[in-house]
Amino acid sequence: MKKATLLFVTLFLGVSGSAVAADDGAIKRGAAKAFYCTDCHGYNGVGTATNSELAGKNSSELEKTLIASKKGKSSMKKTLLDKFSDSDLQEIAAYFGSLKKTGRGEVSYARDIDPIINIRCAECHSSEGEGKHVSGLDLTNYDGLMKGTNQGGKMITPGSAIGSSFMVMVTRKDHLRMPFGKSPLADDEIRAIRSWIDQGAKNN
Ligand code: HEC
Ligand code: HEC
Repeated sequence: MKKATLLFVTLFLGVSGSAVAADDGAIKRGAAKAFYCTDCHGYNGVGTATNSELAGKNSSELEKTLIASKKGKSSMKKTLLDKFSDSDLQEIAAYFGSLKKTGRGEVSYARDIDPIINIRCAECHSSEGEGKHVSGLDLTNYDGLMKGTNQGGKMITPGSAIGSSFMVMVTRKDHLRMPFGKSPLADDEIRAIRSWIDQGAKNN
């Protein structure tokens, strides 16, 4: 039964050639598995200086490429995909196909960064929060983020994550690491913020 369903989806994708044909369930399962790919191909598959963008690729083409890769027939090392079955790869392809193409490596403030900061920082860095109260830093919007703290001023140097104290605040090892007293940001989130700053910290 499962095989038949998959075959149906495969045929359907093959004929329509579009990610729209993939159902939401497949896209969701694909998203969980695709975390692995974003290690090299950038947050949300937006690509990096050396790795292709996967976001917005035609999912049936991508699926074919991935299945060929497992046989050593692509630019990617074949062992990288060993742990995935063909149906895993189909779901991963459906996921990347469902995303919007961004152009090589472009991280978006609205899509990628704002949700992280809103969920992890804004509760304390808003008008009633203790973080805003102590430091003056308002993390409820782009302007507040770029303005910085009352004492130290700007924490983000557009174009240079290494020169941005914001990165220190989320990666330092002592008790002042943000989010204050909570679990650290995920590696993937830190990577997204780093790329976004390196790309100019735009309000995009
Ligand atoms: C350890 C790093 C790494 C991981 C993890 C990884 N890739 Fe790649 N991938 C590469 C490299 C390096 C290339 C070759 C350069 C390029 O085309 O991006 C590549 C190439 C590709 C290509 C282009 C292949 C071609 O011949 O056109 C696709 C598509 C791709 N990867 C998809 C994926 C998907 C989907 C995943 C997750 C299941 C994944 N990659 C995981 C490193 C990686
Ligand atoms: C649980 C509440 C809380 C959360 C969540 C939180 N902060 Fe804070 N933040 C604080 C407090 C409290 C301070 C003041 C710390 C101090 O100086 O003693 C602070 C201060 C700061 C400062 C200023 C440090 C300085 O040198 O003045 C920065 C930058 C900062 N937070 C960034 C963040 C970021 C980025 C996040 C989300 C990733 C975040 N915070 C999440 C409570 C929080």
